[in-house]
Amino acid sequence: MTLKNEFEEFLQSTLRKDIPSKTRDAMEYSLMNGGKRIRPMILLALLQDAGMDPHCGFSCAGAIEMIHTYSLIHDDLPCMDDDDLRRGHPTCHKAFTEATAVLAGDALLTKAFEIVLESDASDLQKVKLVKSLSDCAGINGMILGQDLDIQAENHPLTTFDDLKRIEIYKTGMLLSLPMRCACILNQQEQYITEWNEIGILLGIQFQIQDDILDQTQTSEILGKSTSDEKNDKATAVSLLGLEKANKLVEDLEQEITDRLNRIPGKHDSFQEILNYLIQRQY
Ligand code: IPE
Ligand code: IPE
Ligand code: MG
Ligand code: MG
Ligand code: MG
Repeated sequence: MTLKNEFEEFLQSTLRKDIPSKTRDAMEYSLMNGGKRIRPMILLALLQDAGMDPHCGFSCAGAIEMIHTYSLIHDDLPCMDDDDLRRGHPTCHKAFTEATAVLAGDALLTKAFEIVLESDASDLQKVKLVKSLSDCAGINGMILGQDLDIQAENHPLTTFDDLKRIEIYKTGMLLSLPMRCACILNQQEQYITEWNEIGILLGIQFQIQDDILDQTQTSEILGKSTSDEKNDKATAVSLLGLEKANKLVEDLEQEITDRLNRIPGKHDSFQEILNYLIQRQY
């Protein structure tokens, strides 16, 4: 079985331990609905590159994917991006109700902390992991990015720095989270700043690609609604146009590679993920 399939089974069995409820069904519906699992795979790749058994990272990787999935459930709500399709299926609030979707998001966020605290990491590592999860997910992390994203609707941004600020928080923080957690689990905290910066750059690149795909790809291929234009979103494409946005993705690839080369050790598994990300079509 591939590592990714094993990870899928881990996620499934983790949720099945809870008391059955509508909200638990909605959590499972959204979590087990075919995400690309980029963030958990980054964490597992960094552990592999450090010579560790990647299974040691399953709980933390699961927690990160739960936080990411919660952010998507809430992002799709009518009061936010108001989207109907996610991961190839009706969004959580369409398949269930808005109330259940709100609860499922809340419960996935809470569950993330629970599974890290119940993991095999040392007590000191758990404290550091929980601190990273809260920093990246919270009001100085992804939530701030979502706040800025919503505030920018109908208020066209004028500078790339303004847009970058949204991307750093909205997407960069949850992409730097697996890097931070890997440094804690593989005891390489002396490189946490360098890895964090790579994660932020990858997040900016990932969000610019997401904005490009929203304009250029069908929702059938993406498995999600394309709604940036309808919502008057401030995106790399609306601010810079497609050509400049594509060029930025290439420039960021070079910068990420340069920074990666400055961190000692082998990075083969992580490099494979970078290669996959640069040519992704959804
Ligand atoms: C979508 O993230 C939201 C953004 C940060 C752009 P992904 O593209 O990783 O979504 P899934 O997890 O594969 O569905
Ligand atoms: C969402 O960005 C990022 C988060 C959920 C934090 P988008 O709104 O562009 O993501 P999609 O396009 O709906 O996946
Ligand atoms: Mg959004
Ligand atoms: Mg959205
Ligand atoms: Mg998008």
